[in-house]
Amino acid sequence: MKPSYAIIGCGRVGTSLARQLSAAGYQPAGFSSRTRDSAIQAAKAAGKEEAVYDNSWEASENAGVVFITTPDHSIAPACQLISENRGFQENAVVLHCSGALSSGMLSAARDCGAVIGSMHPLQSFAAVTESNPFAGIKVAIEGDAAAVDCAWKIAVDLGADPFNIRTDGKTLYHAAAVVASNYLVTLMRLSFELLQASGVPEREAYGVLKPLISGTLNNIERVGIPDALTGPIARGDVDTVSDHLSALRQLSETAADLYTRLGQATIEIGTAKGSLPTDAAAQLSRLFSKHIR
Ligand SMILES: NC(=O)c1ccc[n+]([C@@H]2O[C@H](COP(=O)([O-])OP(=O)(O)OC[C@H]3O[C@@H](n4cnc5c(N)ncnc54)[C@H](OP(=O)(O)O)[C@@H]3O)[C@@H](O)[C@H]2O)c1
Repeated sequence: MKPSYAIIGCGRVGTSLARQLSAAGYQPAGFSSRTRDSAIQAAKAAGKEEAVYDNSWEASENAGVVFITTPDHSIAPACQLISENRGFQENAVVLHCSGALSSGMLSAARDCGAVIGSMHPLQSFAAVTESNPFAGIKVAIEGDAAAVDCAWKIAVDLGADPFNIRTDGKTLYHAAAVVASNYLVTLMRLSFELLQASGVPEREAYGVLKPLISGTLNNIERVGIPDALTGPIARGDVDTVSDHLSALRQLSETAADLYTRLGQATIEIGTAKGSLPTDAAAQLSRLFSKHIR
């Protein structure tokens, strides 16, 4: 039989979990949030409106699995409060969903004999949706062995694809996710701005770039890095890069700085690919150094 669960912190992730855990056959035991309204929404999504509690330790005390899905900075204090009020069952599994923080944030739960872990859905939850946001996504799991086992089963039951992350690797793991997701948005904005300055209407920017972006992702999947790198740095076309930098400086210092820093890192990839001649790599390196502010 699947364990019962409680949700402490009923926002986007907590309420999504409530809906999908109940749909997967887990028994809702209690819901508590900073405001009663949010707890009610989660309880409704879980199909157990009567399981709303004003005190977090009352929501958690009958649950086999307790999810603390408050904002990151409130996870440890929320866990501490429940522990002080003896709100964790002995052998309960206590989990949080932060990507950046480790299960260590939940150490107060051990005072009650609970086991602790973290279970990070590698997905952006902008809102609570009817459809299952966990289906097909990766979920990074670490913590006490019993907590890892339990989180793994939950992730599979939610339709996700779990994997183990080292406890001391979580900060860098999360930085990797920020680079791949958030900084991709930053790069796309820069590219849209440059296209617009070149005369392409703003509304057409994404459509113009989409086949290029998809092709690059396909190449990374097919041949990997460094072989997926193409373009002037991979070819050692120093004059083209120099022209880019001059044009960018006139347009925006920030754009030129970003291009310079990323260009420096790209030299290493061109060299590793074997397509960038040594003398061109040295010239590019000098060119970028002149532009570093
Ligand atoms: N959003 C994402 O894309 C995403 C993705 C992966 C992982 N995560 C992780 O999931 C966790 C939750 O994030 P979220 O995006 O769901 O945040 P959120 O939408 O801001 O929800 C957090 C909820 O916690 C409640 N809360 C705040 N302080 C509390 C406290 N001291 N005690 C009890 N409840 C409290 C808030 O309550 P009220 O509504 O009642 O005011 C809010 O609804 C975080 O650890 C985050 O890092 C988020």
